[in-house]
Amino acid sequence: MSRRVVIAIDGPSGAGKSTIAKAVASRLGYIYIDTGAMYRAVGLWAMRAGIALDDMHKLEELARHSEIEFAAGAATVLLNGEDVTGAIRDRAVSDAASKVSAIPGVRRAMVDAQRRMAEGASVVMEGRDIGTVVFPDADVKIFLDAEADARATRRLEELRQKGQDLAAEAITREMAERDRRDSTRADSPLVQAPDAVYLDSTGLSIEEVQEAVLRIVRSRVSNGKEVVR
Ligand code: DC
Repeated sequence: MSRRVVIAIDGPSGAGKSTIAKAVASRLGYIYIDTGAMYRAVGLWAMRAGIALDDMHKLEELARHSEIEFAAGAATVLLNGEDVTGAIRDRAVSDAASKVSAIPGVRRAMVDAQRRMAEGASVVMEGRDIGTVVFPDADVKIFLDAEADARATRRLEELRQKGQDLAAEAITREMAERDRRDSTRADSPLVQAPDAVYLDSTGLSIEEVQEAVLRIVRSRVSNGKEVVR
């Protein structure tokens, strides 16, 4: 039997992490885990429960009691058994997720859950702190970045495909604010792990980024035993 492999992909929003992590997981037959969806689920529950987004104690309790599961190859996100796949992509939830993710107790609960999900399985896990905190010993660490304009354009395109036609300026501003918060918080800020490979996806197609990631995986993992199809 081949050993478990962990591929960590971190980076700011709109860098292409989800698309790439999903494609790479499917190509390798690994489990894909979207950790941002987990913070979003906690943010959504907090909003619905009317909990202030800076109430550290209540939010930690909530995070500890949240049962977050992925179904259908992570295409579906379940919060306490309810399908919240669409609801967690709302703009207000993006903001709430960024706020609750700054709370150390919430992070501890999510990191524990993330490690449990990866027990005994090869995974591609994407987020902000995977290579630094969740799996500091990950076999492959990639920091996926892109220029701010390219990231905002991608996010706008995504929202437009979902029928939300929003002003480019507002989206760019909101993204910049979330990235600033995610990168400057005291606990597990978004930073590149010293041993991560930096990849700039600006101007590259999805296929090009996917191939670049697979090349990195091959160079790190293929000791003659792992097969990259
Ligand atoms: O990747 P995303 O935009 O869906 O993430 C939602 C929020 O959760 C984002 O503001 C950053 C935060 N997050 C985090 O702090 N740590 C992670 N591992 C993943 C996401």
